[in-house]
Amino acid sequence: MRKISLAGPSLGDAEYKAVKKVLDSGYLTEGEVTREFEARVASYVGVGHGIAFTSCTSALEVALRALGVGPGDEVVVPDYTYPATADAVRIVGADPVLVDVNLESYNIDVASARSSLTGSTKCILPVSLFGNPIDPEVYDLASENELSVVEDAACSLGAEIKGRKVGCFADVTCFSFHPRKLITTGEGGMLVTENDDIADKARLYKRFGGRPSGDGFTTEFRHLGVNYKLSDVLSAIGVEQMKKVEDMISERIRMARTYDGLLDGLDWCSVPSSTGKVRHTYQTYCILLGIDGIRDKVIRRLRKEGIELQIGTYALHLQPFFKDAPSRSSLSNSERLFRNSVSLPLHLGLSEGDQRTVVEALVGAVEDES
Ligand SMILES: Cc1ncc(COP(=O)(O)O)c(C=O)c1O
Repeated sequence: MRKISLAGPSLGDAEYKAVKKVLDSGYLTEGEVTREFEARVASYVGVGHGIAFTSCTSALEVALRALGVGPGDEVVVPDYTYPATADAVRIVGADPVLVDVNLESYNIDVASARSSLTGSTKCILPVSLFGNPIDPEVYDLASENELSVVEDAACSLGAEIKGRKVGCFADVTCFSFHPRKLITTGEGGMLVTENDDIADKARLYKRFGGRPSGDGFTTEFRHLGVNYKLSDVLSAIGVEQMKKVEDMISERIRMARTYDGLLDGLDWCSVPSSTGKVRHTYQTYCILLGIDGIRDKVIRRLRKEGIELQIGTYALHLQPFFKDAPSRSSLSNSERLFRNSVSLPLHLGLSEGDQRTVVEALVGAVEDES
């Protein structure tokens, strides 16, 4: 039986050669290759600074620290997201305030975000989930209320609003390079920003709080810091992945259109929405089942047939670690998405025949289970 996996990196000879070159050089920590990776991502997104991190989670933490978010501050976070989004808020000692999401975009609901603001709100931390940009009104809401925006774009490198890349809109945006993301370095992340002061603080903090002098040596440490450097070994993969990022996005969009066509007309299935004004990059192709109570059975059944389905993501208020996090809006859309959403296999090793097999098996399972 051929297994159809959910996701998979797209790696070729170029990545192997680039890693070998770094290994052969004997210089394995963060250095010139990471600088090149940062420059490529920043220029692709269209921002002044790209700063590499060990993960998107460490980048989010440092973004919040650089903005001065800390104990006593509230940060508005969508309830429907991976826990890392709200973990970053708690790591810096602030409180995540959970708000509902939109059922079509799966992204933060602007009205819920607005009604959740208080005098303690310091920042909005929206998530452009699965490759879908957020509603731009979130940026307006933040500026009207003099709040910062840190965008969790773990899934959304290359996504666009009116031709401009996600990463150009928020004060700080953070991407992930985990293997399920659009491009990968194995593990890794990047913070992008236009703001020189935030960039300076982020660079200092990620390298032990020391500022290197002109010759590269650090002689003075004035600040608290950590080690969130991204090794040149991993950045070498990232540099090669960036050279083909647009081709990979085009392929994913083509495959998403194939799924849209195959799923068209099924009244129990909502496909991911994308309007003409945005470019959804389909890091995940996540559908919403209109029938309650069958999702897990459907996932288990297809897995037995060798087709790897997965849930979308989590409703944080239903997770033990976040159940006491404040929320001032209904979280019913988030809960519905958490219980009824299904991610379908999508990666560059998938053929159109595989996509047909997935949809046929899905339709069979939903009909049997409902
Ligand atoms: C929305 C979101 N934010 C943050 C993360 C964490 O990214 P990383 O694994 O690079 O820390 C993920 C990972 O899946 C994610 O989906």
